Amino acid sequence: MELKGSVALVTGANRGIGRAFARALLDHGAAKVYAAVRDPASVADPDLVPLCLDVTDPEQVAAAAAAAGDVSIVINNAGTAGSGSALLDGGFDGARQAMEVNYFGTWAVSRAFAPVLARNGGGALVNMLSLASWVGQPDFPGYAASKAAQWSLTDALRQGLHEQNTLVVGVHAGFVDTDLSAWVDAPKISAETVAELTMDALTNDRPEVLADAETRKAKAGLSLPPTATPAS
Ligand SMILES: NC(=O)c1ccc[n+]([C@@H]2O[C@H](COP(=O)([O-])OP(=O)(O)OC[C@H]3O[C@@H](n4cnc5c(N)ncnc54)[C@H](OP(=O)(O)O)[C@@H]3O)[C@@H](O)[C@H]2O)c1
Repeated sequence: MELKGSVALVTGANRGIGRAFARALLDHGAAKVYAAVRDPASVADPDLVPLCLDVTDPEQVAAAAAAAGDVSIVINNAGTAGSGSALLDGGFDGARQAMEVNYFGTWAVSRAFAPVLARNGGGALVNMLSLASWVGQPDFPGYAASKAAQWSLTDALRQGLHEQNTLVVGVHAGFVDTDLSAWVDAPKISAETVAELTMDALTNDRPEVLADAETRKAKAGLSLPPTATPAS
């Protein structure tokens, strides 16, 4: 698809990967990029159009879809680690929060914007997924489950929005250098790398981004027998 002159919306565009997505869209010639964020005052880039959106709030989701009726690209980037739910003990609050934001939030925004994209010729819906969509994570099982659910949703959306000509793109990455992964000391790719690979996928109508070697390895390993060794 053509990025030049397009109108896009990115959830969670005030920081991290979302900010990089928004900047990359502008750098590739987008005419307007809505930064759909919980706190519009947190959007520092004056080239973005701030829009109030907590993806877990149905009224705000509906209002955003009404306010941004000109978009042809929607990037579901907003996400949370949902920390605090350990595998073998403790409560489930963190895991439930991860499901609320990463899974139900993405679903709600996708539903609300599907008719907008249809009216604007189909366009594209991009979901920010993870290596953890495919590999269970004993250190953060709730987050991984939410990303697996979000991947399933992405696949359903790809099929369900095919007839309206919407390109649905799943973006998978291992650790990316943002606040969300600040707790872990591991190799990380940059948010800008993820964003640039995604712009390339959009430009070339490709439905999937595998942003790093670990993610490519994880996907290739899906046909292998299960192992008890933690994925690296
Ligand atoms: N970092 C990684 O290693 C990594 C790897 C693979 C995939 N991802 C995915 O990439 C996406 C972006 O993560 P990141 O690394 O950039 O994390 P981040 O720096 O922590 O940013 C998270 C963003 O999501 C927003 N957000 C959280 N809950 C929200 C809600 N209910 N409604 C609207 N916005 C909400 C945050 O807004 P506030 O500023 O208001 O909190 C912030 O803008 C997430 O979906 C994450 O799962 C991250």
